Amino acid sequence: LVAGIDTSTQSCKVVVRDAESGELVREGRASHPDGTEVHPREWERALREAVTQAGGLDDVDAVGVGGQQHGMVCLDSRGEVVRPALLWNDTRSAQAARDLVSELGAQAWADAVGLVPVASFTGTKLRWLADAEPQNADRTAAVCLPHDWLTWRLAGGFEAVGLEGLFTDAGDASGTAYFSAESGEYRRDLLELAFRGRSPLLPRVVAPSEAGGTLSASWGREGALLAPGTGDNAAAALGLAAREGDVVLSLGTSGVVGAVTETAVHDASGTIAGFADATGRHLPLVVTLNAAQVLDATAKLLGVDHAGLADLALSAPSGADGLVLVPYLQGERTPNRPEATGAMHGLTLKTMTPAHVARAAVEGLLCGLADGIAALEAQGVSVRRVLMVGGGARSAAVQQLAPSVLGRQVVVPQPGEYVADGGARQAAWVLSGADAPPEWSLAPAQVFDLDDDARASGERVRARYAEVRDLTDGI
Ligand code: XUL
Repeated sequence: LVAGIDTSTQSCKVVVRDAESGELVREGRASHPDGTEVHPREWERALREAVTQAGGLDDVDAVGVGGQQHGMVCLDSRGEVVRPALLWNDTRSAQAARDLVSELGAQAWADAVGLVPVASFTGTKLRWLADAEPQNADRTAAVCLPHDWLTWRLAGGFEAVGLEGLFTDAGDASGTAYFSAESGEYRRDLLELAFRGRSPLLPRVVAPSEAGGTLSASWGREGALLAPGTGDNAAAALGLAAREGDVVLSLGTSGVVGAVTETAVHDASGTIAGFADATGRHLPLVVTLNAAQVLDATAKLLGVDHAGLADLALSAPSGADGLVLVPYLQGERTPNRPEATGAMHGLTLKTMTPAHVARAAVEGLLCGLADGIAALEAQGVSVRRVLMVGGGARSAAVQQLAPSVLGRQVVVPQPGEYVADGGARQAAWVLSGADAPPEWSLAPAQVFDLDDDARASGERVRARYAEVRDLTDGI
């Protein structure tokens, strides 16, 4: 048996699967405080609870952890956490990010690490720490990420393995802004630039299928292998067995559009983050800020539930007779318009109906994600098929309209714990010593195809959306 863990922004999930077949044997979950600043001990407490709920790890041979990316976990020379972790969604380092971009230039950052700093990335949080809390910065002997820290705790932490026992993988390391996904090496010069000359210890980067340590007896079977683990987006791609040509589209609080590619992406506009994946390849990724919440807000406005919203949207014609919703309800990251607000255009006596508004909301949401796919294509990424997951992917209207608006076949896997599954699949890979991760047969998925008419109407919807989107630029 193998175990996969997802330590996410809100909770911890554990799946125990058969290493050969991938069959789900047991699972558990526990929540922990969320927000943008959390003490890592909360993640460990939730992990203990989720492991207990999943029936323990006494019969497990390998464990892999997927985790929220970018969170800054600082440890002192005795392995104590210096201050609560600043998470990916904490924006207090926005000015530090702007400073780092102007000090080096966007092109130089993109060339060096495939990223242009934004507040999410770890390096900008270190700059903030150096300026705002210099005593904490001075106490910092090692910096790691949520999944690295939790894996280290599984190995027994400081008492068992010391700070040198910290390890990570290229996928999560590539979200720090001081690791090159292309060369597979840390950029200590950029760490020192960010941290104002300080050069703390960083986790050892181990190969995708290499064990970095072993489980301590306090967690389960002593000596079980600890896989490198990875960031949640790379883990989800592994859990979904995404192939080249697939785009994974996740409709959660934010929209994530990511593709597995052979070559690294260096986008100096910063639209695409050039992350590494968990298999030795790359995971160029676009994050939009307006996804499932667009559906929630529209349903609330119209006084219906999600099924009601879908019925309304599907009862209106394609293109909603010219009504367009540009859904930047909380600014937008792709395109980079943090101050933007949403806009509705094309209201007439005919289109001012709940059905038209519902249709425009679903189409607008999908057009925003189509912009993300277009950004990937502009960097040479080929996109043949869309794997659509997350809460928003369960909407019947999103499922039926997505192939047309995105212009591709859309596959909707059964709802599941894809990040934890990715951790489990990585653990099975480490255990097998094979060249590639095991081919588990995945849960059946629904496939939504498109014909020529749907493709043509999708193109019209996108063109009209682009007109209105560009009209609102700069307002
Ligand atoms: C990716 C990102 C988020 C977190 C969420 O850049 O910030 O997807 O990984 O957990």
